[in-house]
Amino acid sequence: MDKPILVVSTGAGISAESGIKTFRDADGLWENYPVMQVASADGFRRDPELVHEFYNARRKALLDAKPNDAHKALVELEKYYDVYVITQNVDDLHERAGQKNVLHLHGELMKIRSVTNPDYVETLDIDRLETTPATRGRNGDLMRPHIVFFQEPVPNIEKAVELVSQADVFVVIGTSLVVYPAAGLLHYVRPDTPIYYIDPNPADIPAALGVHIIKAKATEGMRILSRELTGSV
Ligand code: APR
Repeated sequence: MDKPILVVSTGAGISAESGIKTFRDADGLWENYPVMQVASADGFRRDPELVHEFYNARRKALLDAKPNDAHKALVELEKYYDVYVITQNVDDLHERAGQKNVLHLHGELMKIRSVTNPDYVETLDIDRLETTPATRGRNGDLMRPHIVFFQEPVPNIEKAVELVSQADVFVVIGTSLVVYPAAGLLHYVRPDTPIYYIDPNPADIPAALGVHIIKAKATEGMRILSRELTGSV
């Protein structure tokens, strides 16, 4: 008997309790960095060194972070559901928690790719972060962060929409729902599919969507949701 399909859309909030800064909360990343200089296609063209430094600093912060109980609770749900995580996050905490199916919409922090050949991708390890700001690949190519910059298309959005349209349960965790196309995913849910939204400061969602809001941090919200979905905590 196939397990029901649980699709989860996560944002920076799920990694907040791992010590990773969100973008738009107080003291968030975009409060401290000019987003269009460090996270846009124009910014990279204008000053690639600044962009490499910005992402290298985030990689070093990520090396000190660990998956939190919310990441682990999503892995636990794989006993009861076929779980597919669609994340806007570029950290690898879902993978490090042991999640089987993770789809990154905005790229992956620990990867770099050739500027001239987008299919040439390298995964960085700790010593690469200490030495060079990851500007050259092992093959000599000029490299860029394997990140979807603002002003660039989101290649995995079609796959994400397909997953959401198959969901028996859809969960949104820790996102301000202001960046599209990710923010629009909840509109692709089948009418009979329940939607849960875990966030201590949830964005306004049209009441007509009948979303079950769990106003809590990700770890606490996942305890509540796991009890609701499986009867166990
Ligand atoms: N648990 C759950 N949610 C939390 C927590 C927490 N401990 N702390 C903060 N949040 C919530 C905030 O209330 C907010 O709704 O996480 C959300 C963070 O919102 P943003 O900082 O806007 O992050 P996100 O929605 O993931 O941003 C989307 O914007 O800049 C781009 O590419 C970047 O992927 C990012 C996208």
